[in-house]
Amino acid sequence: MQWNSLNSLFIKIFISFWLLILLLTTVLILIPKLDGRQLQSITTSDFKSLKNQQQRIQKFIERHPNITHKQLIHLDPRRTLRSVYLTDLSGRLINDRAPRKMRQFILDSQSPNKPLKKVHKRKTYLGPIQIIHNQQPLLLYFSYPNQKESLELIEWLIDNPLLLLFTALLVSTPLCAFLAWHLTQPLRQLQDVANKVAQGELDTSFPVIKNSDEITQLASSMKLMVLSVKNMLNNQQRLLSDISHELRSPLTRLGLALAINKKRAGESKELQRIELEIERIELMIAEMLNLSRMQLSPEYKEDIALNEFLEELFLDAEFEANENGKTFIYPVLDSITINIYPELAYSAIENIIRNAIKYAEKTISIEITINKKEIILSIKNDGPLIPESELSNIFRPFYRLNESRERETGGAGLGLSIAENAMFKHGGKIWAENIDKQVCMHLQFPRFS
Ligand SMILES: Nc1ncnc2c1ncn2[C@@H]1O[C@H](COP(=O)(O)OP(=O)(O)OP(=O)(O)O)[C@@H](O)[C@H]1O
Ligand SMILES: [Mg+2]
Repeated sequence: MQWNSLNSLFIKIFISFWLLILLLTTVLILIPKLDGRQLQSITTSDFKSLKNQQQRIQKFIERHPNITHKQLIHLDPRRTLRSVYLTDLSGRLINDRAPRKMRQFILDSQSPNKPLKKVHKRKTYLGPIQIIHNQQPLLLYFSYPNQKESLELIEWLIDNPLLLLFTALLVSTPLCAFLAWHLTQPLRQLQDVANKVAQGELDTSFPVIKNSDEITQLASSMKLMVLSVKNMLNNQQRLLSDISHELRSPLTRLGLALAINKKRAGESKELQRIELEIERIELMIAEMLNLSRMQLSPEYKEDIALNEFLEELFLDAEFEANENGKTFIYPVLDSITINIYPELAYSAIENIIRNAIKYAEKTISIEITINKKEIILSIKNDGPLIPESELSNIFRPFYRLNESRERETGGAGLGLSIAENAMFKHGGKIWAENIDKQVCMHLQFPRFS
């Protein structure tokens, strides 16, 4: 794996997280700095107005040398606009009262050599600067109303942490969603391909995934995997057809020898048995080939009208059941469309119906359940039940419940395997149950896949 590649998924995720955390930390550090209500150094114009104030008061004191501290505060002609506050050098307030914010500002800013400023929602606080009154140094602070009262967006956000959180979510959600979508997009493409391959479409072409990251490597590993599965299946099919071909020749010779023997010695019970077994072996070979061909067949899905598709099958089944003196009951069919592999679906349903007719005592009945996601076909028949412990075994190839009983009914024991394979290919399932003293086989087809 090339970790140094800038396109590697590892690097992408690492850098994205890293940038996001860096961005968040920067915003968290910067936001309080953008808040004008912090203590800040004064500007030249602030210093000028502080100096003016100092000189004005100092002149006033010179004109009225006997004025007291308190009178000094209240006699300021512009106090309607500006509020003046005085403290001694130790920070003790001379005014009777001061608003809480001013008291806090006095505590925060006590050095006349480095006057500070604090802007609040309605007022700005400035100070201190030194004045001399009665030979006693005093510190002068003042506050004045702000020109515009409206709260800045940042101040508003800082005062409402929940809103700040909400804004952060609002900004980061689309960003993170896009990032997650972008990083997982090739994985979704691969998932689509994997689903198709799982349904037997081994020739599905792989998407071209740019950026040579881990997902591209995964795609090429999957490609190789599909190729080797395809090879293995081809080999298996070749082996099966070779074996059946090799078996067919001695079987044909056996049949020939049997016919000659019959001619010479006449019919006998033993010869009839041999003939029956030869027929069974031939049938088994044919069905085995059928099963392996079905697993590899490149069939494509089609939209089919369910009622037309099933009606044909049910009419044939009704005929066959009646021939055997049994009753076949099926419901009125809805006209809906279903997306299936027509031949596979046909062979699955036909195999189950044939079993039902074969093993029924008298009656075979069909039920169809249709909902938004799936269509379930339930095929019931009376007759001998399947022991609970065997309900899943019967789907195994060549598995037959009662060899001596079913020897007479013929068949290779491959019908249910064929049906199960077809259902898997549809992404559906098949299962057996004993309900109300009847054997019931369910075939579930997903409606959309
Ligand atoms: N409707 C049913 N009622 C009772 N037993 C059943 C039913 N369907 C299947 N079985 C049992 O499951 C076994 C396997 O069925 P499957 O269709 O695979 O083989 P088969 O019918 O014997 O032969 P084939 O279908 O290959 O001609 C059957 O031999 C039978 O014992
Ligand atoms: Mg069968």
